Amino acid sequence: MEGVIDALTRNLLTRQAGFDWTVTEFVRVVDARLPPRVFYKHCPELQIFPAATPSGVPVHLQLLGSDPQTLAANAHQALSLGALSIDLNFGCPAKLVNRHDGGASLLRRPERVYAAIRAVFDAVGDQIPVTAKIRLGFSDRRLAIACAQAVEAGGACQLVVHGRTRDEGYRPPAHWEWIGKIRHRVKIPVVANGDIWTLEDYWKARTLSGCRDVMLGRSALADPWLAPRIRHWQLTGERLPDTTWPMRANVLTEYAHWQRQNLPERVVTSLVKQWLAQMRQGNTEADRQFQRLKRITDLATLLDSLVIDTPTQPQHRHTPLEA
Ligand SMILES: Cc1cc2nc3c(=O)[nH]c(=O)nc-3n(C[C@H](O)[C@H](O)[C@H](O)COP(=O)(O)O)c2cc1C
Repeated sequence: MEGVIDALTRNLLTRQAGFDWTVTEFVRVVDARLPPRVFYKHCPELQIFPAATPSGVPVHLQLLGSDPQTLAANAHQALSLGALSIDLNFGCPAKLVNRHDGGASLLRRPERVYAAIRAVFDAVGDQIPVTAKIRLGFSDRRLAIACAQAVEAGGACQLVVHGRTRDEGYRPPAHWEWIGKIRHRVKIPVVANGDIWTLEDYWKARTLSGCRDVMLGRSALADPWLAPRIRHWQLTGERLPDTTWPMRANVLTEYAHWQRQNLPERVVTSLVKQWLAQMRQGNTEADRQFQRLKRITDLATLLDSLVIDTPTQPQHRHTPLEA
């Protein structure tokens, strides 16, 4: 996710079993073949083959653009650098991106979705998988199925569907039943995405969409133990306990520690607060902590303050993230 999930976050989030694969934030492709450093910046995992987090979870590379030939040239570049697969983003709702003809703006013309996928497939599809991510449409859902079919016809072997139109932004609800309608009209696997914040949401999203797999976005940050909770339930039928504040404080502390190896204190301070802000979703304790900590500008004070005022001691055994 652009600006919020980087290689370090992927590392932290995949240390416990839960995620089968991850995707980089999008590499913005405009009119040129990008140099290797751009790919390495978005996906440092490319430096070791196969591109994976240290726990071995594959990292797929995402491109966002509209010009088929430039997308193809960059897919080829990514392949030469060791990319495991190419995912094309047709979901980004950002005004700037859409104004420049990228992300969800292509959903208004399924034939353009097709042309983008086809060009990338022709460039790399005989060597690595090509996948895509769409929303239900731009301003309405009329072209949802046509876009999904364009993705399939273009050669993609998997489709992630975020169950909202571009105009719906991130407003709840995500229409999981619409993802189901799409699933019935294509043969490639469809992955359901949008508003899966809890184990209950996971059950509902799967039931309404009929999808076997789901993708977590913001909730991966909001609750770093959601994916492990889902996996644990899948394997045992048991429900892991809720994530406590000390567990969240631990992961934020470790995140700060590792980010500090490369970034200035002031940047790390705002990154920690950014992640803490994400944790507020559906969690009153994280919200309370955010209100308490949001004005601290000094990293050491912030980190000290994370671990004091922890009224709820860990009530449950959990596996701390190791350095
Ligand atoms: C800050 C932010 C950045 C995002 N960046 C990307 C991105 O680079 N690529 C992508 O496919 N989706 C991106 N998304 C969308 C998410 O992957 C996901 O589809 C969306 O948030 C809905 O899922 P969720 O409700 O689980 O978050 C981003 C979302 C947010 C909020």
